[in-house]
Amino acid sequence: MLLDDLAGKTVVITGAGRRKGIGEAIAYAFAQMGCNIVISDLGQPKGEEFSAEHIGATEEMNDIMQDCIKRGGKAIAVPCDVRIAADCKNLIDQAVAHFGSIDVLINNAGVGYLMEPFTEFKESSWDAVLDVNLKGAFLCSQQAAIRMIEQGRGGCIINIASQAAKSGFPYAAAYTASKHGLVGLTRSNAVELGKFGIRVNAVCPNHITTGLGHWQNKFFSEKFGLDYETYLQGIRDRNPLGRTGFVEDIAKACLFLASDMAAYITGEAMNVSGGEEYH
Ligand SMILES: NC(=O)c1ccc[n+]([C@@H]2O[C@H](COP(=O)([O-])OP(=O)(O)OC[C@H]3O[C@@H](n4cnc5c(N)ncnc54)[C@H](O)[C@@H]3O)[C@@H](O)[C@H]2O)c1
Repeated sequence: MLLDDLAGKTVVITGAGRRKGIGEAIAYAFAQMGCNIVISDLGQPKGEEFSAEHIGATEEMNDIMQDCIKRGGKAIAVPCDVRIAADCKNLIDQAVAHFGSIDVLINNAGVGYLMEPFTEFKESSWDAVLDVNLKGAFLCSQQAAIRMIEQGRGGCIINIASQAAKSGFPYAAAYTASKHGLVGLTRSNAVELGKFGIRVNAVCPNHITTGLGHWQNKFFSEKFGLDYETYLQGIRDRNPLGRTGFVEDIAKACLFLASDMAAYITGEAMNVSGGEEYH
């Protein structure tokens, strides 16, 4: 099979400890390919910007880890606040200590709920979004790249960006800026790390009703004065394929990008949006 080369590889996924999330689906897809999975998430609420409503809790993270094992992978769960350099180093160290290597890093942790009118946008919200979505990817990628270079057999980094990496969205100055920045990080890392055989790509999903996506549906439907279902139907109607995204759509794109099928692909920001975004 064309994805056979993935078996036995060690895959670290940040922000993968929340049910219905993109990270959870990515973890199951790689587990089914026989990979070693490192599930990671915040685990504990941290202040009002990272309340229990929005984050993957330790128990949830451990359950997802067990579900990876049921699907055929080996798995561990490692709490990691991607804003903290020592946590990111520990995450990659734990992956290597348990499984002997790191082959794939997927920077999936993201904050998409701190949305405010631009003239009222709080500096603390800006910092929280940029710290997770952009600095977190920098810190984890740096630790992964150090290990991949030491290992001497290349590797793969995938950044979960967004349609907001290509287009602007109202009330989402920080989110949009962070995701555009993540594509910049992707391109810089791709040109610098290519000589070590490390490929770096981004995936840009459109709307998916995850826990985060559900919050956004409520937020934007209220802002636009629409009921929840009418708002959601509007997204479907605008989409050439007539639906919103599924978490599995993103997981499949990650399998492809991590496999030898994408051996000559690096520095890309791949839309997975049903044709809604095409540049
Ligand atoms: N759902 C969508 O419509 C959509 C669209 C485009 C891009 N995305 C991106 O996909 C990724 C996953 O989002 P999702 O929709 O699955 O939502 P989600 O809420 O299920 O996943 C986000 C995860 O990030 C974690 N996280 C937040 N702060 C963290 C921190 N400081 N350290 C570690 N983890 C932290 C959360 O605990 C959560 O588990 C995000 O980067 C998001 O921006 C989502």
